[in-house]
Amino acid sequence: MKVIISIFLAINIVSLSVFIQKKELMQSIERGKSVYDDFCIQCHLHNGKGVEGIYPPLANSDYLTKNIDKSIRAVKFGMKGPIVVNGIKYDNVMANQDLLNEEVADVMNYILHSWGNKSKEYITTKRVDSIRIK
Ligand code: HEC
Repeated sequence: MKVIISIFLAINIVSLSVFIQKKELMQSIERGKSVYDDFCIQCHLHNGKGVEGIYPPLANSDYLTKNIDKSIRAVKFGMKGPIVVNGIKYDNVMANQDLLNEEVADVMNYILHSWGNKSKEYITTKRVDSIRIK
């Protein structure tokens, strides 16, 4: 009986923590939308598609999904120089947006889960903290 109760409790604790993490992610995505609307939309546009050859897309971007840490670094510190996104070359500058680490995490969660992007990642402020300028 004790074993059964322990297993039952363990399952509940695991599903509760999955539920809490999901809820935290949903709240982060919601906050990230307002960061996006204030700081990113003018270049990457409301649909995340950017402007071909000038502002790279975030919707369905192979660069974003394959280079999460580099993308966090770009949002945290800015980015310049040639990159290739979905086979198209960009050699432009994105200024440092001067966001708090929490805002960087929120906007990353928003772009990773919008416009059909379906990431398994949940970016925490702690992960953003650990990303250093190159
Ligand atoms: C003034 C225009 C501008 C703004 C504002 C801007 N970006 Fe960018 N972003 C760029 C450009 C230009 C690049 C590519 C830089 C290069 O050529 O190296 C880029 C690159 C990126 C990349 C990596 C490439 C990709 O397509 O996956 C990410 C991720 C990104 N931006 C996210 C954001 C987020 C999030 C914000 C808002 C916090 C933001 N950007 C604000 C212009 C901008």
